[in-house]
Amino acid sequence: MAIEFFNDGTHRCICFNDLAGEGEVQANQFLIVHGAKGMLLDPGGTKLFSRMIVELAMFMPPQRLEYILLSHQDPDVGAGLNGYLLITDATICFPSIWLRFIPAFCAKSLAADRVLSVPDEGGRLDLQGAEIMLLPAHFLHSSGNLQVYDPISKTLFSGDLGASLLPPEDPYPTVSDFDSHVQYMEGFHLRYMPSSRVCREWAAMVRNLDIERIAPQHGAMFEGREMVQQFIEWVAGLQCGADRLAEAGIYRVPE
Ligand SMILES: [Fe+2]
Ligand SMILES: [Fe+2]
Repeated sequence: MAIEFFNDGTHRCICFNDLAGEGEVQANQFLIVHGAKGMLLDPGGTKLFSRMIVELAMFMPPQRLEYILLSHQDPDVGAGLNGYLLITDATICFPSIWLRFIPAFCAKSLAADRVLSVPDEGGRLDLQGAEIMLLPAHFLHSSGNLQVYDPISKTLFSGDLGASLLPPEDPYPTVSDFDSHVQYMEGFHLRYMPSSRVCREWAAMVRNLDIERIAPQHGAMFEGREMVQQFIEWVAGLQCGADRLAEAGIYRVPE
């Protein structure tokens, strides 16, 4: 069931967290609605498309989507793009270094003149008068990766950073105990996040933002300032990716 986690009458944020079918990776799709327009974040793959449209229509007509953002090039992020291009006039926001992959996602003719190439330094969008920030989050985990900060709801949509693989019998929507939640994030972050240096730089950047919650693309959200703080500090201290592979001496020709 969709969770509306912010609503001030004009501005709403909604999480769809249970649309993945059996055997598919659980993923959260996020919708930001401001006035009559909307922005959809990481809409997901082709199998999810029809379910997503039905759920989305409960909050706004899909034709009123102004932007669709793909945080990076992974299939769980945007493999269903073709369908959205067919039924909406939304502008597709995509990291500039992955732009040449767009024809692999969808018909080139459909995407013509509808893709906003987001430069490495990020940028700001106008969603019917609401400012939405596109933040650089490169290498976390993709080499060209964006995150989204919504200053009205004070939500940082962090993509795969903060992703958790929760036990299927207990998929809680928000983290209530950070320490016991770490076990569900650790394996993914140690392998998929590239190095402690990038994690520290990200932490230094987001400490400048006023964040009420962090909403990752998989698993539970970090709700409230204390939880946000704990997560940022955890990321800042991560030894991951290349740090660990180098230690393990993995670069050996197999026997
Ligand atoms: Fe990913
Ligand atoms: Fe993902």
